[in-house]
Parts: sequence; C-alpha cells; structure tokens
Amino acid sequence: MDYAQPFQQGFGGSFELATRISKHTPGDLNKMFFTICGSTAVETAIKIAVAYHRAKGHAERFRFVGRERGYHGMNIGCISVGGMVNNIKTFASILMPGVQHIRHTHLPEHKFISGQPETGDYLANDLETICANFGGENIAACIVEPIAGSTGTLVPPKGYLQKLREICDKHGILLIFDEVITGWGRTGSKFGAHEFEVTPDIMTMAKATTNGVVPMGVVACNDSIYDAVMDASPTGAVELFHGYTYSGIPVAVSAALAVQDIFEKDDIFNRAKNLAPYFQKGLFSLKDLESIDNIRGYGMMGGIDMKLNTKPGKAGFECFKACYEAGVNFKATGDCLIIAPQFICEEKHIDEIIDKLRTGITNYQKNQKN
Ligand SMILES: Cc1ncc(COP(=O)(O)O)c(C=O)c1O
Repeated sequence: MDYAQPFQQGFGGSFELATRISKHTPGDLNKMFFTICGSTAVETAIKIAVAYHRAKGHAERFRFVGRERGYHGMNIGCISVGGMVNNIKTFASILMPGVQHIRHTHLPEHKFISGQPETGDYLANDLETICANFGGENIAACIVEPIAGSTGTLVPPKGYLQKLREICDKHGILLIFDEVITGWGRTGSKFGAHEFEVTPDIMTMAKATTNGVVPMGVVACNDSIYDAVMDASPTGAVELFHGYTYSGIPVAVSAALAVQDIFEKDDIFNRAKNLAPYFQKGLFSLKDLESIDNIRGYGMMGGIDMKLNTKPGKAGFECFKACYEAGVNFKATGDCLIIAPQFICEEKHIDEIIDKLRTGITNYQKNQKN
C-alpha cells in the first residue's frame, strides 16, 4: 500500500506498530499518536496535554514548564519549552505564552562523572517554586529529556527525576519525557523512563524508531489521558483537532516495523547495555587531553566539553573538523562534542572511535599552538 490517509483511521500496519511499541513503553502508556519527526511529536505532546486538561474541565491549565539547556526540536512549541538560548532569541516574539523554565542539572562540581551525579536532586524543587509563583493549578505539563542530549549529555542527578514526578503528582501536572534521543536503548534500557524508574504521563520518540531511515515520530500517552480526550467529545466527532498528512504513512510504518524486528532479533537493548561500560571507559580515557574541560556520559551517550577557545563555539567546531579529518563523524553543539555510537558496534569499533577522537583532538591542540 502506498498511502492511507491518517485522519480518524489507521491501517493494519499502523495498528500493529502501535501495539508493538506499547509492549515496550513504560506503565500504561499504551496509546500512540504517529507524527513525522521529533519536533512534531513534541508539538503533539503539548497539544495532547492541553486537550486532556480541557477535557477534564481545566482549561486554566495552559502553562508549560521546560528546562534550561533542553532541546525539543524546532517548531514554535518546541523552542518555547526548549532551553537553548540561540534557538529562542530570533523568534522570541512568537513563542508560546506562559512558559517557564527550571534550571538545568549540570553543576560546576559535576566534573568527569560517568553516570548519575550524586548531587543536585534539589534542582527539581525549581518546579515547586514555579508552582508557588504561578499556581500549580495553572500548569498543564512539565517537559524534560531524561538525559539532555543535544546540549551535551546532561545526566540527571540521582533522585532528581523522582522528585520531578512527585511534584507533578502533587499539583496534577502532566510529566512529559522527551525520549527522542534516550529512547530505544540509548541509556542501556528501552527508555530513559525504565532506566531511571520514573514513569511519565506522555512520552515522545523519533530517531531510532525507524533507525533514522524514514522520518517518523511517535507520542505515547497513558490510558487515562486517551480516555479523557476521547470521552469528552460526542461519538463520531473529531476528538483531537490535530494530525499530519504524513502521520504513520505506510513507508514509515514499514521501516518502524522492520526496526522492531531487528530490536528483537539482535537483542539490541541488551547489546547496548552490555557495550555501554566499554564505551564509557573509552570515552573517559580521553580525560588527559589538555583541551578537554569535562566529560559526561551515560549508557551509549557521551558529551565532551572543549575548553573555550577565544569565543564560544570555535573550539567545538574546529575540533569537530579535526576529528572528521581523523575519520570520525559526530555532532558538536557549541563547544560540546556529542558522541553516540551505533548499537551494532563491537568493542573494536569503540576502540576505533576513541582512537580517532584522540587523534582529532590532539591535532586540534597542535593546530592551536602553531
Ligand atoms: C530530545 C529531542 N527532541 C526533539 C528533537 C527534534 O527532532 P527532529 O529533529 O526529528 O524534529 C530532537 C532532535 O535532535 C531531540 O534530540
């Protein structure tokens, strides 16, 4: 089948995919809404949160809470709740109203820590402060990445996500985990929610859902959110005025189903979990390089902060170029190198990645001295 219009209908494949994904999602996050990328998944999650509260008779809950250094994509809702200043500045005049940000979780004492920092869980109390200042009863949802990925693998301190969950529960605020990066094995578990043992109400995913081969995003929400939105509209009427022409189109669904097969056949999540300590050891072996300011890591995610080189972003970009020339490709955000190896890697591939990073960073250092 080439195409099936996705408004108020699905087809065999899309139902099968939703069912298969729901076997992996935590708690009762059993209902899927297909989108076309991570950004549209986040936009959809925002809309579902608003629709849920309206369905429950709480239209006053329009506020959202995001986090500094959060990245949720590029649409207006995404950059509103996101916390990357440069993405926001130009578009400040058209952002969503009523968005507040809690502080990010990276503290100066978090130097060269692999895994979760021991300190900093108190930063979750920023949400309580926002509730005090704006009224928790006016807040629709709080959205965070379990591990902030694009701004450099900011790993949540121990107990932090649990605290966020407690504060959300206390005030009736929905907790949204953006698992576009942390989903599908990147942390060593299926989702960050499993890894950190905190179940959100809504979860977004994209990227590895189709192994990045075909654009697709997914929003999973729990049964009570789904039921509330469905029950609030008359039978046969449109329940949620939202959707995309390319939501869950057959080619994307086929790719996602094939990826589900590979997850099972190659035991991908366990593979990532087993390889993670080796990757982390390799990553932190770069610690001696003088131009590196800090390294963070968790599972199959790593962030290397380069020391400032005259102006922000210069070290990151020049280092990225030197590493590319040495044979390893990745993304740099500002002065942070984001390292996320494929799950099909073997130890020899991790060795190769780390060796090439060492060569590239060393060459960058030499170039600075000349
Ligand atoms: C956590 C997170 N959310 C959302 C997005 C946006 O996804 P996309 O680029 O597919 O729109 C990204 C992209 O990197 C992301 O890392």
